[in-house]
Amino acid sequence: MNHIILIGFMGSGKTSVGHHLSEALSLPFLDTDEEIEKNSQMKITDIFSQYGERYFRNLETETLEKLSEDQDRKVISVGGGLPVEKVNQPYLKEMGSVIFLEAKEDTLVTRLQGDTTRPMLKGADLRERIRTLMAQRQEAYDKVADFHIQTDEKTFEEIIEEIVRKMHIGGYHEI
Ligand code: S3P
Repeated sequence: MNHIILIGFMGSGKTSVGHHLSEALSLPFLDTDEEIEKNSQMKITDIFSQYGERYFRNLETETLEKLSEDQDRKVISVGGGLPVEKVNQPYLKEMGSVIFLEAKEDTLVTRLQGDTTRPMLKGADLRERIRTLMAQRQEAYDKVADFHIQTDEKTFEEIIEEIVRKMHIGGYHEI
């Protein structure tokens, strides 16, 4: 399949880049977190607090399974933990080109400071939490990624141009 899939840590800009990219390429955009919230009629924080992380991970896999049957080409952004689950990795590889949006720890700290919507960042010192999670996840991100894009200090336009260039997508219009 031919989807364009954005992966990366929380705060790496998957959803925002996804919106811009879908507009630039005139493709529909879908975000797995939004899909889960829509289908369950619950906020992600409530899913975590009421049912726990494992339940949420199962919803992610169900969402991905459904999406893998969708032949309509799309830009898809997936939650930061989704590529880490081994069961999800073959789906991502099959579904299209996987783009890993990277950001430095400092950038992530700045972007995620004060965020209350991400249960995985609750509690502990934010920088420490980011560092620990990133160390656990880096290998999985690298494994499924076809392309890496460093996003620090780049505008959306620059990021999109880089994606289009790396993927050799022709005929897109500037936004
Ligand atoms: C998570 C990332 C979130 C969301 C959930 C868990 C994670 O998505 O899926 O809070 O484990 O990294 P974003 O990466 O879009 O913030």
